[in-house]
Amino acid sequence: MAARVLSTQEMKIASEDDVVLVRRAVRALAERRGFDSFASAALTTAVTELGRNIWVHARSGMAIIEELEDGLRPGVRVEFKDLGPGIPDIDWAMAGGNSTASSLGLGLSGTKRLVDDFQLQSEVGRGTSVRITKWKRF
Ligand SMILES: Nc1ncnc2c1ncn2[C@@H]1O[C@H](COP(=O)(O)OP(=O)(O)OP(=O)(O)O)[C@@H](O)[C@H]1O
Ligand SMILES: [Mg+2]
Repeated sequence: MAARVLSTQEMKIASEDDVVLVRRAVRALAERRGFDSFASAALTTAVTELGRNIWVHARSGMAIIEELEDGLRPGVRVEFKDLGPGIPDIDWAMAGGNSTASSLGLGLSGTKRLVDDFQLQSEVGRGTSVRITKWKRF
């Protein structure tokens, strides 16, 4: 069955404070949808990493937060998109331990493990989009 989108909220990311606001909005939504504390923490950690990636690597972008329902199962989907430099080698960026910012390079690879679905699209010179989905477990 295709997931229904119950609500959509768009937030800009142009500062570290904006990343905190997005994190807070996603956590509130996850709690409202009945996610347990582990799922909520996993999702908010992923959101912080991807929001920070926009700020650090692209400087500005958007988070689009969607409240989903698949049958009776609540879910949350967040898309992070920017018009920044893009990622030249996605396998390299996803491998874990690789960074162009002299950082740990664990953001993308770690994030993927924290969510149920992870879709990354990126084009050099055009930007990057990362879409994550997490479902409530009963
Ligand atoms: N939105 C983005 N735009 C452009 N490049 C990106 C973006 N997100 C990630 N990258 C590239 O992918 C690499 C890996 O990202 P990842 O988040 O795993 O590590 P990091 O941000 O460098 O370090 P950290 O462990 O602190 O997150 C980055 O170093 C960067 O080169
Ligand atoms: Mg990162």
